Amino acid sequence: QTGLKGKHFLCEQDWTNEELETLMDVASALKMDNLLDTHKYDELLKNKSLFMLFFEESTRTRNAFECGITQLGGHGNYLTPKATQIDHGETPQDTIEVLSRMGHGIGVRNTLVGGHAYMQKLAKYSKIPIYNMQCDLWHPTQSIADLFTIKEKFHNELKGRKFVISWTSAGNYMRPLSMAQSLITLMPRFGMDVTLAVPNKDFELMPEAMETARKNAEFYGSKFEVCNDMDAACEGADVVYAKGWGPIMAVGDDEKTGVEMINANPGWCVDSRRMSLAKNTAIYMHCMPADRGIEVTDEVADSAQSVIYDEAENRMHTIKALMALTMGNVASRR
Ligand code: CP
Repeated sequence: QTGLKGKHFLCEQDWTNEELETLMDVASALKMDNLLDTHKYDELLKNKSLFMLFFEESTRTRNAFECGITQLGGHGNYLTPKATQIDHGETPQDTIEVLSRMGHGIGVRNTLVGGHAYMQKLAKYSKIPIYNMQCDLWHPTQSIADLFTIKEKFHNELKGRKFVISWTSAGNYMRPLSMAQSLITLMPRFGMDVTLAVPNKDFELMPEAMETARKNAEFYGSKFEVCNDMDAACEGADVVYAKGWGPIMAVGDDEKTGVEMINANPGWCVDSRRMSLAKNTAIYMHCMPADRGIEVTDEVADSAQSVIYDEAENRMHTIKALMALTMGNVASRR
């Protein structure tokens, strides 16, 4: 047994490398089961209920959890603040104490209304595992799917690979910092040399996340650097990952800010010329939704180097593994 039953997944740093490797081992087995249509794990979470509490909308995360729990024999229950008493002020304690008595796991997306602090309040009282479906600080179910995808594409040989994230969202204006912070802190733990490519200092991440990325790189013998020149960042890269801007998700004044930021940094976009600076074996990644034509050109997003749809599919396999290990009782060879 793995001893992971009941463990929350709020941040990558809360899990050891060995635990994350276990999760990815189980994800590989579950993915193979799907591909071969062998249905070996159809009852792994039979009669278990997963609550999915979304403060904001989602395409990939919701459907990865919902399809995942269904495929493992359980049931997913979609909740929003409006569809519950949360909008009427019910406290995190009361919410989770009640849900803990009914179901077996809860995923929460909350990037704006409390974010990680809200999840920590839930975790304090929860008797069931809590999954961070994205908060203001971290997006661990995305980053682990990304790591799994990179391992697949490079046949588990990650040491010394250059991972570039082009990040263009300042502060918390339009999108939370979570995606970039999860990537810069996780990837160095698995041997990758991470370059955070940002137009200027206004786009840098929280000092605590930058410090964790530096410490992880030091501990695991990899590198972490910040670069304000996207051409230089893409030079020799194995993985180019773009994320940022965000006007498609912004509302009101934030939309104006997003447009102003884009206009102030023309050309900060992953295009074919920049991909040609990377290794010819390089892959292009994006957690999606992508601002095509702004963060990345169609030519790159739809190229043979692009793995964005594999990455999205792997959300489901890795999330199934997460639920199986923490809601069920899955044995692992590790
Ligand atoms: N990547 C991601 O989290 O996508 P959704 O916002 O659609 O869930």
